Amino acid sequence: MPAHSFVRPVLVSLLLSAGVVLTACEDTPTTETIRPVAFTPTQVKATQGVSAVTSFADQSGGGIFVASDGTAVRLRLDGSRAPLEAHPANPGPVGTVLAVHRLGPHSALAETSNGLFLAESGWLLAAPWGAPFTSGLRGTAQTADGAVWLAHPQGLYRLQGGVLSELKVNGRSLDDVVSLAAAPTADGTSGLLFLRQQTLAVAVAAGANAYRVMGTDIPLKQGEIVTAVAGLGPGVGTSGEPWVLTTERLLHYLKNGWQSVALSTLPTEVHAAGRFLWAKAGAELLLYDADANTWGTASDVDANTVTFLAVDESGCAWVRLGEDTVALSPSPAPRVTGMNQGMLVVEDGLVVRAVLPPGAAGASVFFQLGDAEVPAPAPDYSLGGMETDGTPKAYSLSALTPGMHTLGVVARFADGSEARRSVPFSYQPLNTVALSWDKDIRPLHESRCAKCHTTGPGRPLNTYALWKENAALITAAVRDQRMPADGPMDPQQISLIQRWAASGAQP
Ligand code: HEC
Repeated sequence: MPAHSFVRPVLVSLLLSAGVVLTACEDTPTTETIRPVAFTPTQVKATQGVSAVTSFADQSGGGIFVASDGTAVRLRLDGSRAPLEAHPANPGPVGTVLAVHRLGPHSALAETSNGLFLAESGWLLAAPWGAPFTSGLRGTAQTADGAVWLAHPQGLYRLQGGVLSELKVNGRSLDDVVSLAAAPTADGTSGLLFLRQQTLAVAVAAGANAYRVMGTDIPLKQGEIVTAVAGLGPGVGTSGEPWVLTTERLLHYLKNGWQSVALSTLPTEVHAAGRFLWAKAGAELLLYDADANTWGTASDVDANTVTFLAVDESGCAWVRLGEDTVALSPSPAPRVTGMNQGMLVVEDGLVVRAVLPPGAAGASVFFQLGDAEVPAPAPDYSLGGMETDGTPKAYSLSALTPGMHTLGVVARFADGSEARRSVPFSYQPLNTVALSWDKDIRPLHESRCAKCHTTGPGRPLNTYALWKENAALITAAVRDQRMPADGPMDPQQISLIQRWAASGAQP
C-alpha cells in the first residue's frame, strides 16, 4: 500500500466475520474550524412539480426526475420540460418510475415497476442486461476505471463493458450497502468506498475483474458510527477526495490524512458531485467548493424545508423547496457542452460551448485556459469561434502540456461581478500512430455497439463506411458517455475511438 492512503489492508475474511467493526483508533485527525460565508443562491424554478425521490442532474443543466403520476420527466437548464419517451423498440412498457440514479455524466438509470430503463438523450431504453434484483437501489457510483456500481439490498453490482456482475466476497453477497462513493486510493487506483453494516470498506481494483475488499484507517472514536459516504471527483493535483459523515463528525481524506471538519451543527446529509459537496446541517444549507477550499451557507433558504433530489458537477442542487422544484446554484454560472468534468481529451481540436442559465442572460462570456482568455460572443458562446457556414469551430488544445488542466468559463455582468464554471480535464494528446477500424475499432463495435446499431433500435453503424461517415457524431456520443447506451465504456476505449477518428478514421 502506498504511504498516504486511507486504505488499511484487512483480510477479506476478517471483514466478513461477524461482529467485526472498525477498530477505534487513538489518532485524532486534525480539525479544521469552518466559518461558512453567506451567499444568495440563484434559484431556477421548474415548470413541473416532481416527487421527492432520488433523481439525476446533468452538469450541462437539467436532469431526469419523477412526476407525481410516476412518469419520468426531463427538465432543462431553464426549468422547462424536455421530451423523454419510451423507445419504440422496448420489449414492454415503462412501468411506474420509482427513482432515477446516475449512470454517467449524461445518462441515468430509471428504476421502474417494470424493471430498469436507461434514460439517454430523450429516450427511455429497456436495460438490455437483465438485473437479478427488483427495485430498491440505494445508490450508484462511478469509479475511475469507468465502472458504475449499484448498491442494492441484495448485493453490490458492477456495470462494466455492458455487463452487470455481482461483487461477492468469499462467495457471499455484499448485501445492505447503504451508501457508496468513488474513492481513488493515493496511487490513483480506482476504489469504491462503501458503508455496510455500519462498517466502512473499500473495494480496490486488483487486476481485470478482480477486487480486493479492505477496511479503512479512518480514526473513529469509541461508539462513533459512520452514517454516510460521499466522494469528490478529480481536479488539478488530486485524483479525488472521500468524505465520511459519522454520528459525531464530518471527515474528509486529504493528502496528509483524515481531517475533521468542525461545523457549528453536525450535518445530517451530504451530497457530492464533481468538486462540490452540499450538506444539510440544521436549518443551514452548506456548500463546499473543493477547488476554492471555501464553505458557503445559502441565505434565504431554510434547510428544514429542503429535500435533495440530485446534485451536479457545476455546483447546482435540484431540491424540493416546500411545494416547488428548484435548481439552486451558488451563482448563475454558465454550463459547458462538449467538455465534461474530469474528461480525458486526446484530440487536438474540440468544439466547446457555453450555455447561459436564465439568471445570466445579457452577461458577456469568456473562456480561460492556461494563460489564454478567449472571448465567446453571443449567441453561440463557442470557444473556437464560428465556421463561415455558421457552425461552431473546434478549438486547438495543442499548446497545452499533457496532464490535468482546468477550463474556466466566466459570465461577466454589467456591474463587474462574475459567475464561473471550472471544468477540470485530463489532456493526453495523440501519438502519431494511426489506428485502423478493422483492427482496433471493429472489436469494440462488436462487443459494445453492434447489438443496438445493426438492425436497431439505434441507427445502423455496422460497417466501416458508416463509422467513417458518422465519425464526428460517434466521437461526440462516446466522449459525452451517452453511448454505449447500456452502460459505461472504459476510458481507454473511449480514447481509442477518439484517436481513431482524429487520426483520419482509417479502414
Ligand atoms: C443498448 C442499445 C445501444 C447500444 C449498446 C449503443 N447504442 Fe448508440 N444509440 C442507441 C439508440 C436507441 C439511439 C437513438 C437512435 C439513434 O439516434 O440512432 C442511439 C444513438 C446513437 C448515436 C447518434 C445519436 C447521438 O446520440 O449522438 C450514435 C453516434 C451512437 N448511438 C453511437 C453508438 C456507439 C459508437 C456505440 C458503441 C460504442 C453505441 N452507440 C452503443 C442505442 C444503443
